Amino acid sequence: MKQSDLGIVGLGVMGENLALNFDRNGFAVSGYDLDDTKRENFARRTHAAAPRSLQELVASLRTPRVLLLMVPAGAAVDAVLADLRPLLAAGDIVIDGGNTRFTDTQRRMLELEGTGILYVGAGVSGGEEGALRGPAIMAGGHVQAWPRVKPMLQAIAARAEDGQPCCDWMGPSAAGHYVKMVHNGIEYADMQTICEAYFLMQQLARLQPAEMSEVFAGWNRGELSSYLVGITAEILARTDPETAKPMVDVIVDTAEQKGTGKWASQAALDLGVTAPTIADAVFARTVSAVRAERAAASQVLRGPSLAFAGDREAFVEKIRRALLAAKVCAYAQGFQLLAAADREYAWDLPFGTVAGVWRAGCIIRARLLEDIRRAYVRDPKLANLLLDEHFAAVMADSHQALRDVVAAAAQHGVPVPAFMSALAYYDSYRAARLPANLLQAQRDYFGAHTYQRLDRPGKFHTKWTEA
Ligand code: 6PG
Repeated sequence: MKQSDLGIVGLGVMGENLALNFDRNGFAVSGYDLDDTKRENFARRTHAAAPRSLQELVASLRTPRVLLLMVPAGAAVDAVLADLRPLLAAGDIVIDGGNTRFTDTQRRMLELEGTGILYVGAGVSGGEEGALRGPAIMAGGHVQAWPRVKPMLQAIAARAEDGQPCCDWMGPSAAGHYVKMVHNGIEYADMQTICEAYFLMQQLARLQPAEMSEVFAGWNRGELSSYLVGITAEILARTDPETAKPMVDVIVDTAEQKGTGKWASQAALDLGVTAPTIADAVFARTVSAVRAERAAASQVLRGPSLAFAGDREAFVEKIRRALLAAKVCAYAQGFQLLAAADREYAWDLPFGTVAGVWRAGCIIRARLLEDIRRAYVRDPKLANLLLDEHFAAVMADSHQALRDVVAAAAQHGVPVPAFMSALAYYDSYRAARLPANLLQAQRDYFGAHTYQRLDRPGKFHTKWTEA
C-alpha cells in the first residue's frame, strides 16, 4: 500500500479542510480521530485513508513520519502526545497546528527531550476557509524538522501578492505559537476598533447598517483594505430572513472568547510591554458579556445627553482616519510584544517575515502589512513601528482625526476603549516627559522605594515626614 506523506490527528472541520488542501497539492494524507463518525465523514469527503487506530495511522506513514495534530488546544494535545510517543521513532516529526498556549509548547518540547522526536508548534490562521484554500502558517520549534515540513506547509499556505507563501519559520521553541498569539491579540484589537467605528457611525452619525456597509466597502478599497473590514461590509449588508431586519440588529451584543487575546495581554504584562489597545479589546469583550448588569446600570448611571450636531460625512471620514491610526498603534504594540519576547527568549524572530506571513491567509490580513514588512526590511532593529518613516507620516496625518473622534465619543458618552487607549499609547510613547517623577516620589514616600534623579546617577531616598 502506498504510504501517506502526512497523518492528521483530529478530524474536525480544520483537520478535514487541511487534508483536502494537502491532497489538492499532491500530498497523500491519512487521518485519524477518536470519534468514529468524524473518521467516516472524513473518509467519505476527502477520499483519504482513515485508519481506525493511532497505531494504524502511524503505520500508514512514510518515514521519517510527519504528524499534524489538529485537536483542541490543551489537555487533548497532551493526551494524543502520550499515546503517540511510544509509536514514534527518532526523526519523526509532530506538528501541533492548534491555538496552543506558547508555554505549553515550551513544556512539551522539554518533555520530548531525549526521544529524538522533532516538534513543531505551528500557528495556523484563517479559519475553516483558510484551512481549505490557504492559511497563514507560523512555524517554530526544532529547526531540523523545517526542511522536511517546509515544502508541505508552504504548498498549502496562502500566497501574498508577490507570490511568496504565507508560511515561514519563526524560530526555535514556541516562537511559532507565540507569533500566532500576538496575531490573535492584534486580531482582537482590529475587530474591536472596527466595532467602535461602527458604533460611532450608528450612535452619533445615525447611519443605518446598509449605509455603513457601503462605508466599510469603500474603506476596503483604500489604505484600510483588509479581510476584517471586508467581512464587516458584508455582515452589515445582510438581512435576517426571519424578521427582515438587518442581521446585526438581531444579534445579541455580547462577545465570547477562547482566550488567545487574554494570553497576549498577559504576556505583555509579564514582559512589561505596553499593549493597552490589545488588552482593552479583551476588556471590551468582558464588559460586553455582563449584559444584564449593563442593562441595570443603564437605568442608574448618568451620562451626557448631547445630540450629535456635526457634519455626518466629515465625521465618517474622521472615523476612517481614526481607525487607521488606531490600527497602526495596535500593530506597533503587537510588534513591541514580539520584540520583548525576542529579547526574553533569544528566538531571533524575523519581524519582516512575520509581517510578510500575515499578508494573506490569516484573519488580520491587510494591505498595511506590506508596509509593515517593508519597515522591518528597512530596519530589522526598528525600536517601534511608529518610528518608521512611513508610519510616522501616517500618524502625523491621522492622529488629529483620532483625537477628534475620541473627543466626540467622550463628549457624547459613547464607549470607544480601543480608540482611546490607542491615542493614549501614541501620546505616551511620544512624550519626552511623563508624570512618573511624581510616582517615584509617592513610592518613596510610603515605601522608601527610593527614586532616581535627573541631575546625577544613583538611588535616593528622602525622609518625607517628620515623625
Ligand atoms: C485565526 C483565528 C482563530 C481563533 C478565532 C476565535 O487566526 O484563524 O485567530 O484561530 O480561534 O478567531 O478566537 P476567539 O474565540 O478568541 O475570538
